[in-house]
Amino acid sequence: MRIAELRATLAMMKKMLVTGALGQIGSELVPALRERYGSEAIVASGIRFRPVNSVTEGGTFEILDCTSVDDISAIVQRHDVGTIYHMAAIMSAIGEKKPEEAWDLNFGAFANILKVARQHRCAVFFPSSIGAFGPTTPSQNTPQDTLQRPTTIYGVAKVAGEMLSDYYAARFGLDTRGLRLPGLISNVTPPGGGTTDYAVDIFYQAVREKRYACFLRAETRLDMMYMPDAISSITQLMEADASRLKHRNAFNVTAMSITPAELAAEIQRYIPDFVMDYDVDPLRQEIADSWPDSMDDSAARAEWDWSPRYDLASMTKDMLKKVRTKLK
Ligand code: SER
Repeated sequence: MRIAELRATLAMMKKMLVTGALGQIGSELVPALRERYGSEAIVASGIRFRPVNSVTEGGTFEILDCTSVDDISAIVQRHDVGTIYHMAAIMSAIGEKKPEEAWDLNFGAFANILKVARQHRCAVFFPSSIGAFGPTTPSQNTPQDTLQRPTTIYGVAKVAGEMLSDYYAARFGLDTRGLRLPGLISNVTPPGGGTTDYAVDIFYQAVREKRYACFLRAETRLDMMYMPDAISSITQLMEADASRLKHRNAFNVTAMSITPAELAAEIQRYIPDFVMDYDVDPLRQEIADSWPDSMDDSAARAEWDWSPRYDLASMTKDMLKKVRTKLK
């Protein structure tokens, strides 16, 4: 067994800590990790014990405020944590309403995570985003390595997080890995305060009211992904053979590049009288316009065999089925 594999196996034997476990990604990542590695191997955490659900009840759950290095360190020691999935974050539109708080959480807390990871030799997963790009980035087929001058605090914190992850890997040999995730479409926990949230809200409104007022213009093209693919992308990257990874952090990953009009048309195939109105929010429109239309994810495909399962058609079909069951 190669040293890298041995290290990876040892890290796997230790526990996995998930921060922000009650958020949009965390609430699906925790059950997936419990299923994959065994419930006793996973420590879920959040800033509060609410809502009480399968994440808080289905295994270990700790209250953790990631702005405290000591609190992170205590949990990592108490549970013998070997890998940290850092999902706690404030989304892009809310970030613009409270930029300093967003920086403290989205960058400051992540810097704390890396500090503790260095002390205890933990592997770290960092979710970067399409928000790490800005208006001067090439927006079509956005390359893996390109100009990154984001104009939101969310994006500034993501770029800084990507770079700090690279730094800890290069300088301290820490196993940091990360993805630039697109807008995520899911049906367990709703997103809150993001620019891509329309692609989730639309399903609930389509099923409930057959009508949705979209806060982005009809032709706003953005990358999206269905949550089951996002969860697989995270576990696949964390299990990937380290010797194949040239870009350890911030891999572009995408599953579809769609506009609100295209999503509405796909929903109309199942709900023909669904009506889409547009009530554009200038803040979120400006943010969306500064992000790529479509990312090139060939580095992820080449370095760890990334390939999404869901496209617009299969995602829409499954979302409608799940949201209908949920709202019954
Ligand atoms: N979904 C996030 C947002 O809209 C982007 O990563 O803020």
